[in-house]
Amino acid sequence: MADPGPRSLLYEGILLPALVHSAESLRYAQLGFQVRDRDVFSVTYPKSGTTWMQELLTLIHSDGDPRLARSVPSWERVPWLEQTTAAGFLENRPCPRLISSHLPCGLFPTSFHGSDAKVIYTVRNPKDICVSLYYYSKMASFLEFQEDFGEFVELFSAGKVLFGSWFQHVKGWLGLRDRLNFLLLTYEEMHQDLRGSVERICRFLGKPLDVRALDGVVENASFQAMKQNKMCNYSLVPENIMDQRISPFLRKGGRGAVPLPGSRGRCGGAASYPSLASPSRGRCGGLPEPHHSLLPAGVPGDWKGHFTVVQSQAFDRLYREQMQDVGVRFPWDEA
Ligand code: A3P
Repeated sequence: MADPGPRSLLYEGILLPALVHSAESLRYAQLGFQVRDRDVFSVTYPKSGTTWMQELLTLIHSDGDPRLARSVPSWERVPWLEQTTAAGFLENRPCPRLISSHLPCGLFPTSFHGSDAKVIYTVRNPKDICVSLYYYSKMASFLEFQEDFGEFVELFSAGKVLFGSWFQHVKGWLGLRDRLNFLLLTYEEMHQDLRGSVERICRFLGKPLDVRALDGVVENASFQAMKQNKMCNYSLVPENIMDQRISPFLRKGGRGAVPLPGSRGRCGGAASYPSLASPSRGRCGGLPEPHHSLLPAGVPGDWKGHFTVVQSQAFDRLYREQMQDVGVRFPWDEA
């Protein structure tokens, strides 16, 4: 693995943002943290719907009442296990504790294994994750950023981004999918049928909700509601850390938007998918926004406006190689 760069920390071969992680916080997560049977973990590879699940879990546990979700930041309500703030948030918290984690399965707390704690693992189309991560790296000053989208795709494909390889992350966690305390969800099915997904989560958690509570969860976890909630839209984070004028944290919400051909130039070879023109990381002046949504609103697939055909085909080959023995079909897999 190459030099992690000034903003990153390398732990057990995995790159992490040094701003909120340390070797101690990672050792604490893995070895010091005592999992309790009633703990509920939301595990995700970054940009897979972590914040969405933080909101859903909060609202489910509040019976659809949005007051907690609107008054306490998401990272305090459902804190990250591996971050430096974890012990302070979690040690004295009553059960059931709601906990987020981006850790690969192999770095998860040793005390999880053999416990009855529950894991909800949310997985998303890796091409959309790659796009989401590209914009996130651009607006977050604590992340390494590669301006050229083609090079960013290569880094992502090689797992040289935060939390390492998507393939390793997903394959590692899918190894637990036959366990009763493991629920596999996809961002795409949440997008397609949020209410049905909430019902699945409730069944898994043994937390039935009446119709009114369910309505409250679905309404308050919509993309629009979350965009307006400063407790989860990251507007509380200072601009020198996350500059939402460069790209909003809650960016597209899975809506594919394809810019007009030529509106952003091309990167890398023959392409029929329009692609990025590499706007600078600086202030919003140089940042083009897509003008035209050619996909129906609400259909995930933002990658189609960003990957060239060549990049897409190369990624598909890698995907087939890596995922051929996994035995799970995802919504984005070809028929
Ligand atoms: P985009 O950048 O594609 O818009 P994470 O929370 O893991 O960092 O993931 C962030 C991604 O989840 C962003 O994707 C964000 O817009 C999307 N997201 C967050 N809340 C959402 C919601 N309620 N509905 C749909 N997408 C949501």
